[in-house]
Amino acid sequence: MNRYPTPDEYMKAVQHPESFLVDELRGLELVVHPLYGIPMPAAGTSAVVFKAMAGGEAQALRFFTRHDVSSSARYGALHEHFTSSGLVSAVALPRWIDDGIRVNGATWPVVRMQWVEGHTLNRHVDGLVERADTTSLSALAQSWRDLVSRMQRAEFAHGDLQHGNVLVDQRGDLRLVDFDCSWIARFSGSLAPSETGHRNYQPENRPWGRWMDTFSALVIYLSLLALAKSPAGWRTLYNGENLLFRREDFRSPFDTPVWAHLAGIGDARLDELARRLKQCCAPGWIADAGLDDMLAPQVQPWWERTPTAVVPERMRVPAPVQAPRPPLRPPPPPPPFVAPQPRRGDWWTAVDPAMRNLPVPAEEPEAKRPTLTSVFVVAAVIGLFLGLLAASEAEPVPAVLLGVVAALFTFVIGLMRRNRPD
Ligand SMILES: Nc1ncnc2c1ncn2[C@@H]1O[C@H](COP(=O)(O)OP(=O)(O)O)[C@@H](O)[C@H]1O
Ligand SMILES: [Mg+2]
Repeated sequence: MNRYPTPDEYMKAVQHPESFLVDELRGLELVVHPLYGIPMPAAGTSAVVFKAMAGGEAQALRFFTRHDVSSSARYGALHEHFTSSGLVSAVALPRWIDDGIRVNGATWPVVRMQWVEGHTLNRHVDGLVERADTTSLSALAQSWRDLVSRMQRAEFAHGDLQHGNVLVDQRGDLRLVDFDCSWIARFSGSLAPSETGHRNYQPENRPWGRWMDTFSALVIYLSLLALAKSPAGWRTLYNGENLLFRREDFRSPFDTPVWAHLAGIGDARLDELARRLKQCCAPGWIADAGLDDMLAPQVQPWWERTPTAVVPERMRVPAPVQAPRPPLRPPPPPPPFVAPQPRRGDWWTAVDPAMRNLPVPAEEPEAKRPTLTSVFVVAAVIGLFLGLLAASEAEPVPAVLLGVVAALFTFVIGLMRRNRPD
């Protein structure tokens, strides 16, 4: 097979309309650089992409710079799958055109798709970090998670999820490009592409198949979440060919700067995601499920459970939204509490009043009720005193009688006082 044209050779060829071999391409107007006046390609590792206009609509023309297993049949099947599984808004919908252009005396295919006005993921993130826009970074992480979930549910695997293949359009929506390594069920059993994805996003020896995006999707998700918490990490960890991670970070003992940076943020959710990513870096680990499943709460065997289990993110149920209530009038003040006074004979006096919060009645002082002995002694003393007093003035007999009468009188008075009713 002929050598594939270089980006430079494609650049020269597209400036001559006669290089295009099909009408739909010949009718396009290539967009040129405002200063240099020539079409400027965006380049990746396997292709160059030019912007062109077709009746006021921006289109992307992609030309291969190296051999791959991409073919009309594969791109045709992908196009059909995107359309039938509701992924059209998640991708730049590609259409393969066989023998679309002649370069160096040979014909080459062209992939035509809609042009995504926006930036690659890394450039977009760079702008958000520059503005310290953590809210948008956080929203971007969630959009990414949603997109991956959508793709994986639709049984599509991209195969090379990385900053250059994720475009963020002017509305902030994400779109995927570059489907040379992609997988759909219809490709099972066919030859795997030679490309295995960007090294800063892939584990060692990644097999081609349905779940091959799970690892790279987690790398991107964790990076975006970490940047939303701490944009400062971008300055030290971004190198133009990654987000936060590099291939070297995916090896035990995980002592590279990115892990120290993540641990330093001190966020429980990030710590948990970092722990999951480390698990995926184990030699021989192969994804067998999607990102949603991987981040779902892990059912721990009962013997490993601790009483303080963390409620995982996906199980957290938002508080129910309550219908707004009319403003409440303040309740009337409660009537002052008057404790019922226990009376002798009431049924609850059988219970200790202290148990019912009732005031405990004070004990009646004993001194108010004279004893029989004290009544007798007081009467005797008074009788003796008056009797002796009378004896000093009168005959002894009337004096003794006076003393006895006084003592009796005092005794009777004392008895009456002692036995008075309550
Ligand atoms: N539909 C598109 N709209 C806008 N830019 C695109 C589009 N497709 C590709 N690009 C740009 O071209 C670059 C290279 O394209 P890509 O298909 O990823 O090639 P490669 O296989 O070489 O990586 C992308 O990173 C992106 O910047
Ligand atoms: Mg690419």
